[in-house]
Amino acid sequence: MSVLARAGAGPLSAAARAVVPWLWRGKYFSSGKEPAENSLVTPMLRHLMYKIKSTGPITVAEYMREVLTNPAKGYYVYRDMLGEKGDFITSPEISQIFGELLGIWFISEWMATGKSAAFQLVELGPGRGTLAGDILRVFSQLGSVLKNCDISIHLVEVSQKLSEIQALTLAEEKIPLERNAGSPAYMKGVTKSGIPISWYRDLQDVPKEYSFYLAHEFFDVLPVHKFQKTPQGWREVFIDIDPQVSDKLRFVLAPCATPAEAFIQCDETRDHVEVCPDAGVIIQELSQRIALTGGAALIADYGHDGTKTDTFRGFCGHKLHDVLIAPGTADLTADVDFSYLRRMAQGKVASLGPVQQQTFLKNMGIDVRLKVLLDKSDDPSMRQQLLQGYDMLMNPKKMGERFNFFALLPHQRLHGGSHQMNARQSKPSPSPVAGFGELVWR
Ligand SMILES: C[S@@+](CC[C@H](N)C(=O)[O-])C[C@H]1O[C@@H](n2cnc3c(N)ncnc32)[C@H](O)[C@@H]1O
Repeated sequence: MSVLARAGAGPLSAAARAVVPWLWRGKYFSSGKEPAENSLVTPMLRHLMYKIKSTGPITVAEYMREVLTNPAKGYYVYRDMLGEKGDFITSPEISQIFGELLGIWFISEWMATGKSAAFQLVELGPGRGTLAGDILRVFSQLGSVLKNCDISIHLVEVSQKLSEIQALTLAEEKIPLERNAGSPAYMKGVTKSGIPISWYRDLQDVPKEYSFYLAHEFFDVLPVHKFQKTPQGWREVFIDIDPQVSDKLRFVLAPCATPAEAFIQCDETRDHVEVCPDAGVIIQELSQRIALTGGAALIADYGHDGTKTDTFRGFCGHKLHDVLIAPGTADLTADVDFSYLRRMAQGKVASLGPVQQQTFLKNMGIDVRLKVLLDKSDDPSMRQQLLQGYDMLMNPKKMGERFNFFALLPHQRLHGGSHQMNARQSKPSPSPVAGFGELVWR
């Protein structure tokens, strides 16, 4: 039986996922007309105005960091913004097939690199835990393949609210969670399938062991600095209080050069760029870890390969939202620059992609998987939901072209050899990396 059929041996996951009039965040920003009720003076706006009055205009990166992850008032910290009642929808929330295929990707890479005796699955920004849940279901259903492999789950999450939702989704409720706010792992438990699971605020805190890393719609929420080319050279965009309108913010240009300019390439030809130093730090950390211990990182997001300019935008209630209005009530995001991620790997590891989501999922066998699920279901509404979810993920006019997959792998993975070989294992010849080429199941 094919692996895609076996991965579906269990029940359809409460596949009642949200479809489809809601907004996904890959949509582009148009400068945003706001409903009157959004032009509120939020606690975050008061906080930012106080800050700007005290120390002067702030960078867009500082604005994003404060608005999204300020520990007291940040947008991500105390709310569930995903799904139909929230502000946007993501691929794992649309269809169970998405997470299942990613689960198969990790197993395929684990097999291709010599079936290590143990691995950590590390997810950055796991949202509601839906994606990890779908991956874990595949791990359970392919238990015979993974038998004797010690798996542990490690979630990097800054949001208190979302970490509670992740625990409800993933953790076995009969086993109490251990909480220790002062420890690098601030929460620990056991998943419903009996796998140890831990939560961290920072990737640095995750044990440096053989790991597979996953970041879905994570890099796009990291703070960006914005720069405009002027006759005097690059000038950074700052955020200041509008002197004409009370309680309103506006963009201004810095009068002189600022330190983040160092992140712009010398031969840059665009006249407006966004740079994300935090993404660079995380990619460097991932690259070092993978070069040292093996494993792989799979990054999926909307983005470009060093070509786009002004992509900073906001979302609220499934509508585009002016980024400067009612801060703290809307999500802020910017497209991921995959060329920058590749550069930040600094040759320590090999990179693959970006490839479009429709290509990646097709290579992973989404059509076979959809057919298996349709054949199993007699419920017309479930079948319709599966078909609508497929269309949303794959249609080039929807998420199929805007979203991309990008991977970091040890050089040996592409050129033969493995960190994880032992005396009993023969040297595996390099097979194509699934998703970036067709899935080859051995
Ligand atoms: C856009 S959501 C994506 C959620 C999920 N991956 C999905 O696709 O449904 C971004 C996620 O990253 C988390 N997050 C945002 N900034 C973070 C940071 N600096 N460190 C760790 N997690 C962060 C958010 O709390 C949330 O879980």
